[in-house]
Amino acid sequence: MKKIFILLCLCIIMYGNDFLSPYEYGKALYKNPRGIGCIKCHGQYGEGAIISYIKQNGKLKPIIAPKITGVTFDKFEEALKLGRGFMPKYNLSVSEIVSLYIFLNPHQ
Ligand code: HEC
Repeated sequence: MKKIFILLCLCIIMYGNDFLSPYEYGKALYKNPRGIGCIKCHGQYGEGAIISYIKQNGKLKPIIAPKITGVTFDKFEEALKLGRGFMPKYNLSVSEIVSLYIFLNPHQ
């Protein structure tokens, strides 16, 4: 929690008032994060979605991109840096990751 607070302060200093807010920036990045948009798999607000189906033992099994709101910051950062299953890894800066996190968790 301390880490996210420090990062948030950094963000505010970096973005100031006359630039996009971290929330707005996160919203834009969520659609276009230099790579395939999070929105394509995780839904409009990170609520999660079924990406596709695979056939396993003659049965259709859904491939699910989970809900990504309410995840701890450490878990969030790790998933982005390392990738997860069908999810590619992203080469995002700390302020970009924080902005995405703020967009997905605006009331924290
Ligand atoms: C190609 C589809 C796809 C895209 C694009 C994608 N993800 Fe994912 N993401 C997944 C899947 C599938 C998982 C679950 C993987 C697993 O655990 O097997 C996942 C897992 C995660 C997790 C971990 C959730 C948890 O509870 O552990 C986070 C956080 C996450 N994604 C955030 C993002 C963000 C932010 C972006 C955009 C920068 C993004 N994802 C783009 C498919 C995607």
